[in-house]
Amino acid sequence: MKLSLFASAAVAGLLAQVAEAATPDEWRSRSIYFLLTDRFSRTDNSTTAECDAQLGQYCGGSWQGIINQLDYIQNMGFTAIWITPVTEQLPQSTSDGEAYHGYWQQDIYSINSNYGTAEDLQALATALHDRGMYLMVDVVANHMGYAGAGTDVDYSVFNPFNSQDYFHTYCEITDYSNLTMVEECWEGDNIVSLPDLDTESTDVQNIWYSWIPELVSNYSIDGLRLDSALEVQQDFWPSWVSASGVYCVGEVDNGDTTIACPYQNYLDGILNYPTYFPLVRAFESTSGSISDLYNMVNTVKSDCSDSNLLGSFSENHDNPRFASYTSDFSLAKNVLAFTILSDGIPIIYAGQEQHYSGSSVPTNREATWLSGFDTSAELYTWIAKLNQIRNYALQWDNGYTTYKSYPIYQDSNNLAIRKGSNESQVVTVLSNSGADASSYSLTISGTDFTAGEVITELITCTNITVSDTGDITVPMAGGLPSVLYPASKLLESGHPC
Ligand SMILES: *[C@@H]1O[C@H](CO)[C@@H](O)[C@H](O)[C@H]1NC(C)=O
Ligand SMILES: *[C@@H]1O[C@H](CO)[C@@H](O)[C@H](O)[C@H]1NC(C)=O
Ligand SMILES: *[C@@H]1O[C@H](CO)[C@@H](O)[C@H](O)[C@H]1NC(C)=O
Ligand SMILES: *[C@@H]1O[C@H](CO)[C@@H](O)[C@H](O)[C@H]1NC(C)=O
Ligand SMILES: *[C@@H]1O[C@H](CO)[C@@H](O)[C@H](O)[C@H]1NC(C)=O
Repeated sequence: MKLSLFASAAVAGLLAQVAEAATPDEWRSRSIYFLLTDRFSRTDNSTTAECDAQLGQYCGGSWQGIINQLDYIQNMGFTAIWITPVTEQLPQSTSDGEAYHGYWQQDIYSINSNYGTAEDLQALATALHDRGMYLMVDVVANHMGYAGAGTDVDYSVFNPFNSQDYFHTYCEITDYSNLTMVEECWEGDNIVSLPDLDTESTDVQNIWYSWIPELVSNYSIDGLRLDSALEVQQDFWPSWVSASGVYCVGEVDNGDTTIACPYQNYLDGILNYPTYFPLVRAFESTSGSISDLYNMVNTVKSDCSDSNLLGSFSENHDNPRFASYTSDFSLAKNVLAFTILSDGIPIIYAGQEQHYSGSSVPTNREATWLSGFDTSAELYTWIAKLNQIRNYALQWDNGYTTYKSYPIYQDSNNLAIRKGSNESQVVTVLSNSGADASSYSLTISGTDFTAGEVITELITCTNITVSDTGDITVPMAGGLPSVLYPASKLLESGHPC
């Protein structure tokens, strides 16, 4: 009796653990809101606390602050968040700024007290799980951070990598096309150097491979974003991924699929930089290249092992925000529609919903609280609509998140992409004509809609009947995208019209 009670408790414990550590397949259907913990929300809920991103200093965001604003995130349709690294950082204020972003760690066994306590971080995981949401945490295996030049590092400040033996000999990365140099030399500069761990050494590997499952378990983490994945040799990653037991998506910041895609053979997924560059170029102006994006959709599908496990994004904290290229809301809406409705796991960067326009680092790291968490903002409601469309489509189509979408139409200003099984396909028609464009209609063929079928355009919630030849006449207005879906599938609760 006692024994079986213990046994079932152990099984229940095991199940709870398994349920929390989410697999790649469980992540496919997720939609991720990415935030810098220091810049999203404060424990005191202030929406006026000063934060000049240009200064590169701590602004006071916290894990408790995130808990306070989970409605804001969840009501936009997100089902996961990704937060910046949680480990203890270098304490100095340098002329490169402070370690508010979390990529300059010194002690991997302590957490950054600027964001709160270990209990706060655990409470964040619990609050997310209570809502059925996932927690993704950013981790840095490539390097530590030091306030000083690479030639002059006091290694004793690091825990546990407290001697030079754990590190590659100092050299600066001067040529990003030389992969050996990218892996063995150091990122950073002479003010803050990023001592580059010798991830080829067994000592370093043993530390990391036992650290990562502890971190995942201590904070009930569901997935990991791997910083500087390109800067670590590929064969370091498989043991890391299996030790972690969760979905791992790597930062491989290279737009060439022949360089980036092979990392997916060592990791579950990578951030889709190959698509990011042509995506921004296609929509940053009314003369952007649609055909480059059209071609890249096909190239990524053929070169990467699974386009649906890539992170699909159009903004992040390392690149200029989309609105720094153009203030046009229709162009911003098209970029968001592509990000959320194409293959992969959508990732939207905090502030994108408020049309923030910071350009290069660090001005693109504006505090979200300064928007007042305005849920009536034009892009906030737009993202909510797009996430609702995706969440609805994948709920009624088992194959939606494994279906590899393909472009079915392009001209110099328009692109149509088809995704999902025949019975509940989603056809997204994008335009870079801009908000000032007059109305026009496009004739689209090559969908799997059938002659006479009634389909609904989900943005305006208007019906269109497919012609006898199977063509669809899609009305386009104000440079906005159209999203087509079978009217007969809009019967279940939660549908977007
Ligand atoms: C901040 O907002 C949360 C959620 O609305 C609330 O529970 C909490 O009491 C607020 N905290 C303060 C200090 O106002
Ligand atoms: C690439 O970098 C490595 C390490 O710094 C160096 O030894 C090698 O000569 C470089 N290769 C080329 C082709 O420049
Ligand atoms: C996880 O928690 C244990 C027990 O408190 C602690 O000894 C260990 O250092 C923690 N590991 C990490 C990576 O947080
Ligand atoms: C989907 O429809 C197309 C024709 O419209 C057909 O060729 C294809 O076999 C269908 N696929 C499935 C899975 O039914
Ligand atoms: C669109 O068509 C569907 C199915 O025929 C119908 O139920 C729905 O009411 C129509 N919607 C509009 C806005 O006409």
